Amino acid sequence: MTLPETMRAIEISKPGGPEVLTPVEVPVPAPGPGQILIEVHWAGVNRPDALQRAGAYAPPPSASPLPGLEASGRVAALGPDVSGWTVGDEACALLPGGGYAEYVVTPAAHALPIPKGMNLREAACLPETCYTVWSNVFIRGGLKAGEVFLVHGGSSGIGTTAIQIAAALGARVFTTAGSAEKCATCKDLGAERAINYREEDFVEIVKAEGGADVILDMVGGDYIARNLRALAEDGRLVQIAFLQGPKAEINFAPMMMKRQTITGSTLRPQSDLAKARIAAELRAHVWPLIEGGRLAPVMDSEFPLDQAAEAHRRIESSGHIGKIVLKVR
Ligand SMILES: NC(=O)c1ccc[n+]([C@@H]2O[C@H](COP(=O)([O-])OP(=O)(O)OC[C@H]3O[C@@H](n4cnc5c(N)ncnc54)[C@H](OP(=O)(O)O)[C@@H]3O)[C@@H](O)[C@H]2O)c1
Repeated sequence: MTLPETMRAIEISKPGGPEVLTPVEVPVPAPGPGQILIEVHWAGVNRPDALQRAGAYAPPPSASPLPGLEASGRVAALGPDVSGWTVGDEACALLPGGGYAEYVVTPAAHALPIPKGMNLREAACLPETCYTVWSNVFIRGGLKAGEVFLVHGGSSGIGTTAIQIAAALGARVFTTAGSAEKCATCKDLGAERAINYREEDFVEIVKAEGGADVILDMVGGDYIARNLRALAEDGRLVQIAFLQGPKAEINFAPMMMKRQTITGSTLRPQSDLAKARIAAELRAHVWPLIEGGRLAPVMDSEFPLDQAAEAHRRIESSGHIGKIVLKVR
């Protein structure tokens, strides 16, 4: 494959609103040891991209400063010591950054094959949510078949993925979302009960089922105390964001009496090895669900790369259901 010297990309010109996302021409990156270069066809848009743009989620020191945590496309070049990939292969990949561009480098072990039957547009939406859901709900939270699982933000990219994987693996799925339309989508995806949090109290509904064994939360704020009330004995609360803020006044005595666990994680700062291990688990446990028709990204909308600012306005409106993608070529 002949590679150009420069490429179109979107940079964050300074911390701020969507308008700081600026089209630029920059050098095509070169893959280092263990890395592949991907010719990007589609890039997924995620809420952490908006946090990075606003200056609240800095990329790790070794990562590209360009936004974009996931993409799909073709392998365009291999760095030294790469096995398992050939130039021309189609792939989707978790990225340390840099997905809003025509080319991106990432560790080869963080790329996954396109599931059979899926197109590149949908596949671009798999890595960030699948890595996050698998590592937090199943590795960290230890969710098992038959257990009660509550995921907040059920209509988000993360929520729509969590509902489908948990339901496919036999959990009883409860979720919250902010409108009747969003709740209907969540039920279609496999939620036993979708709770419109503007009208109903998730604590009472989940407690009536014996409490949640695992809760995946991105809301925080007053949800922290409410989640602990909704959690069953030996339950696990897994925190992946704090859209309503990270601080709360908590009485920890019930947590001790009910032997509950409070944990959480962010994906991006984890080591390459930790991410490679998650990728291997996704290939073994989640890719067969996708190829068996049990899981597919819920597609909200697409925007051309140059209109990344519009994509950010859409995700920050919270009007979307599922995933937003950028068409790169
Ligand atoms: N820890 C990690 O490694 C990691 C990785 C990826 C994403 N995340 C986090 O996971 C969350 C979901 O990510 P995503 O990309 O799937 O986001 P998304 O699609 O933008 O979803 C966020 C959803 O949360 C709901 N929500 C509930 N309370 C909210 C509030 N106070 N403010 C704004 N939205 C609220 C909104 O729907 P309603 O109408 O139902 O309110 C909104 O659609 C984000 O917070 C993101 O930062 C964490």
